[in-house]
Amino acid sequence: PATKPATPTPALTTPVIPLPAKVEARSGQFVLGADTVLVVTGANPDAERIARDFAGRVQLARGFQPELGKAGKGAVTFSLDPKAALASDEAYTLDITDQGATIAARAPAGLFYGAVTLWQLATADGGKGEARIAAQRIEDAPRFVWRGLMLDVARHFRSVDEVKALLDQMALHKLNTFHWHLTDDQGWRIQIRQYPKLTQVGGCRIPAGAAGRDANGKPQPYCAFYTQDEIRDVVQYAAQRYITVEPERDRPGHAQAAIAAYPQLGVTGKAPPVSPDWGVHTWLFNVDDGTFTFLENVLGEMMELFPSRYIHLGGDEAAKDQWQKSAAVQAKLRELNLKDDMQLQSWFMGRLGRFIESKGRRLIGWDEILEGGPPADATVMSWRGTQGAIEAARAGHDVVLSPAPELYFDHIQSDAADETPGRLDVISLKDIYAYQLIPAQLSAEQTKHVLGAQGNLWTEHMRTNDRVQRALFPRAAALAENTWTPAPRHDWNDFLQRMPADMARYRTTGFHAADSAFAVRFAAQPAADGRGTVTLSNQTGFGHIRYTTDGCEPPPESDAYTQPQAGPLPATIKANAFADGKALATTRSFAVDAKNLRARGSHALRSCKKGLALRMEDDAPANGKPDGDRAILLADVFDPCWVYDGAELDGIGTMEVRVGQLPHNFQLWKDARLVVTRPATVPGGALEVRLDGCEGKPVATLPLAPARHSDGLSTLQATLPALSGRHDLCFTFA
Ligand code: ACM
Repeated sequence: PATKPATPTPALTTPVIPLPAKVEARSGQFVLGADTVLVVTGANPDAERIARDFAGRVQLARGFQPELGKAGKGAVTFSLDPKAALASDEAYTLDITDQGATIAARAPAGLFYGAVTLWQLATADGGKGEARIAAQRIEDAPRFVWRGLMLDVARHFRSVDEVKALLDQMALHKLNTFHWHLTDDQGWRIQIRQYPKLTQVGGCRIPAGAAGRDANGKPQPYCAFYTQDEIRDVVQYAAQRYITVEPERDRPGHAQAAIAAYPQLGVTGKAPPVSPDWGVHTWLFNVDDGTFTFLENVLGEMMELFPSRYIHLGGDEAAKDQWQKSAAVQAKLRELNLKDDMQLQSWFMGRLGRFIESKGRRLIGWDEILEGGPPADATVMSWRGTQGAIEAARAGHDVVLSPAPELYFDHIQSDAADETPGRLDVISLKDIYAYQLIPAQLSAEQTKHVLGAQGNLWTEHMRTNDRVQRALFPRAAALAENTWTPAPRHDWNDFLQRMPADMARYRTTGFHAADSAFAVRFAAQPAADGRGTVTLSNQTGFGHIRYTTDGCEPPPESDAYTQPQAGPLPATIKANAFADGKALATTRSFAVDAKNLRARGSHALRSCKKGLALRMEDDAPANGKPDGDRAILLADVFDPCWVYDGAELDGIGTMEVRVGQLPHNFQLWKDARLVVTRPATVPGGALEVRLDGCEGKPVATLPLAPARHSDGLSTLQATLPALSGRHDLCFTFA
C-alpha cells in the first residue's frame, strides 16, 4: 500500500441539518480540541452566552470544554457586528480554515445559528475528543421567518423540563417558533391570577375508562398546570435559544374546561365536567360583555407573560349548536345586524383582535377565522388543508401553513408493529421532507404572505414524554430543512446521508427520537415443509440490513440481508440497518414460530372501511402501574371492523384472539351519525368472525365476558368448523 497520510483528511460533506443555503469548500482542516480558545469580539453578553452555550454542547458531545479567552491560533471567533451585510438577523457566515473558525452575524440569533452549525460539523462523526472539520465557507439565512412546532399540553401535560428539552432540540435545528396550545376542553394549563378556578377546576379531569379509576372505583384525576413563574422561565429559556413562544388560548369553542370552572361564561349556565373525551365538543363561550371582560383580563395576564408579536386566539371547530339554541345569543346577533353564526364568530374574534391590537400585538387564528370575514390584519394559520392559506394570501393576509394531515405530527410515522399511538394515515419522514410548502395556486406576490410553516402535535394519543419526543423528531428535522433551506437545495437522498449523524446527536443529548424511518420490519409467510419465510425491510430503504439468528445483537459485520429465504422454525431473528458502520435504529427482534407466522396485529389487518382509524392505547395499564406500558391497538372508531386478507386455513382448527379495551371517548359532533354499532348476540357481547365478507353467519363467536375485567390484553379462543384454502376473515364486535 501507498504511504498513509499522518492524519486522515475528513471528506468534505456538510453534515448539517438544515442544510445551509451556501457552502464553498476550502483546502485544509480545522482541529477543534481541548486547547481551542473561544473568542468573543466586543463586550456583548448575548455573544458571550452563545459562546459558553457552544462550549457546553461540545463538552456534552465530545467530552472536552473549550474555554473563553483572547485571540490566538486555532480560535473560534464569535463576531457580532450590527453593521455586517447579512440578509436578516437570523443570517450568519461561518469561515473555517486551518487557522480557526469565525462565526459572523449582525444579531445574536444569527450568531447562535452559526454556533449550532459549527457544533453539528464538530459532532458529525459521532466520536469523542478533538474534532476535525474540513475548511469551508458557509453563508446561511432562512427560507422562512416562521419555522414552528405546536405542542398541545391540554390533552396531555408536559413538565417545564420536558418543554425545555424540546426547545433545545428545536434550537439545534434552527426552528424558531414554539406554539404552545395551553387551553382546551380537556384542561386549562396556565395560571391566571384573577381566575384561580381556571386551574383549580379547569386543570383537572377524570380520564375516561379504567385509567380514570383506581381498583376501588375511586376517581384518579389528571391535574396539571403551569404557574406564571414557570411560564416566565420557559419564555426566557426559549428566548435564549432564539425561539418565540406563541401562546394559544382557544375560543369560542374548545372552551369546556373554562366553562367547567366558571359556568357563567357558557351559553347554558350549566357546568359541564372538564372533558375526558377527544374530538369536537359543543360547549361555547357566550357573547355577553361580562365574558369579554373575562377574556380580555385573561389575555391581559397572558400578554404580560408572553412578549410575542402574535397572540393565537384559536377559532377552530366551534360547533354552533349552543349559539343557535340560545335566545340571548340570537338576540345579540340581531342587535349587531349580523346575518349568521359565522359572522357572529367573526365579530367575536374581531372584538378580541382589536383588544390585543390596542396593546400592540397581532392576532393569529386557525383558518375558520376566514369564514364571516376576519379582522383586516389577522394572520391565518391554515390547518384544514391549504385552502385557508390560499384564500387568506389572496385576500392579503399573512399565513402560516400547518395543514392536516401533511404537517400533523400526531399522525403515525410508519405502519410498523411497534409504532406509537396516533392517527392514520402514515405521515413519514419523507412526507414531511417532500411537502411543498408553497401552494402552487399562489402568485409570486401572494407567496410573500407565506410566513412559513409549523408542525402540530396534538396529544390525545401522546400520554408520555417519550411519545411526544418520538412524534416530533426526527420529522421536525425534515420540517426544519423544508422551512430553512432554499427549495432548490432540497434533496431527500442527501438528507438521508446526514441522518445517521442527526440520530447520533439525539442520543448524545438524551432525546428519544423515533427510528421508524430506519428500523427493520418483518413480514412472515408459511413456507413448504413446515418452514417459514421472513422478509426484512425498512421504510426508507436507507442503509444495509444485517441480522443474526443466534440471539445476539447484529454487529455491523453480521450477515447482510439480501432477499427472503425459507428457514427452519422456530427461529429468532435480530436485525438492524447500518450506514457507515453505524446502527441507524435500535435492533428489532422477531420470534418466528408456527403461530407467529400466521398471527396478525391490528396494524397488519385491513380496516373494512375508511373512517377514522387510530392507533390507540388499551385504557388499563398492563402491569398495574398508571405510567406502565399498555397494549396499542389499531381500530376505526366509526366502525371497528377488520379483515385478515387471504388467511391460509388448511389444517387450522382453532383460533386465538387477543383483545384489549379501549374507552370509546370520542365526541364526534356531526360525524356521530357515521358510527356503526352491532347489537349483542350473547350477554356481554362477542367478537364475531366471518369468512369472505362481513355479512352472514359467523364461523366463530368469541364471547367478551371473560375479557371484561382484565387489565391489559386477554386471550379468547374458538374452535373453527372444518375449513380449507385461503379466505378473508372479517372481525367485528357485536
Ligand atoms: C385543529 O386541528 N383543530 C386546529
